[in-house]
Amino acid sequence: MDIYKIKGGKKLSGEITISGAKNAALPIIVASLMADGETVLHNVPNLMDIRTIVKVIEALGAKTHFDQAKNILKITAQNIKNNEIPYELVKTMRASVYVMGPLLALTGEADVSLPGGCAIGERPVDIHLSGFEAMGAKIILEHGNIRAKTKKLKGATYKMNKVSVGATANLMMGAVLAEGKTILENSAMEPDIVDLGNFLNAMGAKIDGLGTDKIEIDGVKKLNAVSYSIMPDRIEAGTFLIAGAITKGSITLKNVVPEHIGALLYTLKEMGFKIKTTKDTVSISPSQKLLGTIIRTVPYPGFPTDLQAPIMALATILSGITTVTETIFENRFTHVPELRRMGADITIEGNTAIIRGVKSLSAAPVMMSDLRAGAALIVAALAAKGTTEIRRIYHSDRGYEKLPEKLSQLGVSIKREKGEA
Ligand code: UD1
Repeated sequence: MDIYKIKGGKKLSGEITISGAKNAALPIIVASLMADGETVLHNVPNLMDIRTIVKVIEALGAKTHFDQAKNILKITAQNIKNNEIPYELVKTMRASVYVMGPLLALTGEADVSLPGGCAIGERPVDIHLSGFEAMGAKIILEHGNIRAKTKKLKGATYKMNKVSVGATANLMMGAVLAEGKTILENSAMEPDIVDLGNFLNAMGAKIDGLGTDKIEIDGVKKLNAVSYSIMPDRIEAGTFLIAGAITKGSITLKNVVPEHIGALLYTLKEMGFKIKTTKDTVSISPSQKLLGTIIRTVPYPGFPTDLQAPIMALATILSGITTVTETIFENRFTHVPELRRMGADITIEGNTAIIRGVKSLSAAPVMMSDLRAGAALIVAALAAKGTTEIRRIYHSDRGYEKLPEKLSQLGVSIKREKGEA
């Protein structure tokens, strides 16, 4: 298994271009199953999770061609069948459950493995399932599989008992080809959902209320294949801004929608960083006085849970105290013991981490436990004294395209090496 060796202490400088959004691309790729003809997707990040979802749709009968260098994915979906998706694929990625919506809409049946637990908690799919039940599907759980069946999905009004990005995407995909009108209440407002909705509308779907907590979908008979460009990845952008911040560097990110990271920009400004934005760039630079603050993760447009770990790494070296409360996932502090190994002073009380700023971090061998916890370790390594060795970096391959290349471009000394088996 490969490891990263990162030499800390260098101020980041320069500019990089942010890739397409993983969490928008995943459902959009799956939604292409419903198109008549060849879908052409641009700005598709070349990531492990993307390559996995491509294998998933191939297992259902889609033909694909992914030009990884140009980030263009072509998908032709004909004769889509409710085939078994190898468990090997599903177990690595919860987003496989996204095939339920399109499969139910197209074939009236969907059998998918029930996603297991994962490093950040239990992550159930009950909201997805009860939403499909409201739309007329019969659902049975047996032998570790979800089996869903219906003659034809029917429009329904369904209020989610918790804001769920995944359930909103899945139900929206099912609803676009359902009979009649579907109203999703308490739906997710994340930009990824808006991007998926814009893609579906471009194909001929009738979706209203994107970006609000009430999405209304009038079912249509057919969707046409289109060419579409995936929006920029706000979590990648956020991670790089935090990386620039922890080194007190000055960097500019291109291909960003500043509005998508509004809560992060607010937090960084509160900490004392200077932020400049244009329509599609964000720049960060330090100021003399940098201070801890109070952070609470909440659904969009609030502070994203996916940036909770990286911002905590930044807080470890700011003056004063930062508190970080995680309200979305129950076990998302696995980066804390690793950050402590690097000299961070962090106490956990329930779902709140209390971070007391230290003068500096020091390099230590550490291990990624999931994608965003991994991002926190990379951020910490950039500021640490010495060379940090990070193991299990396959987690960051899932979500950060060309990470070493982009960090090198900003002046970081980073090597990817073969580690122990
Ligand atoms: C997506 C993102 C992930 C992000 C998360 C929250 C993708 C591929 N992943 O994950 O990066 O961290 O949104 O912004 O887009 N829940 C239930 N029942 C359900 C579904 C969810 O209880 O049926 C709970 C979850 O356990 C969690 C909360 O709802 O506590 C939010 O989860 P959800 O928004 O569904 O996250 P994902 O779509 O899995």
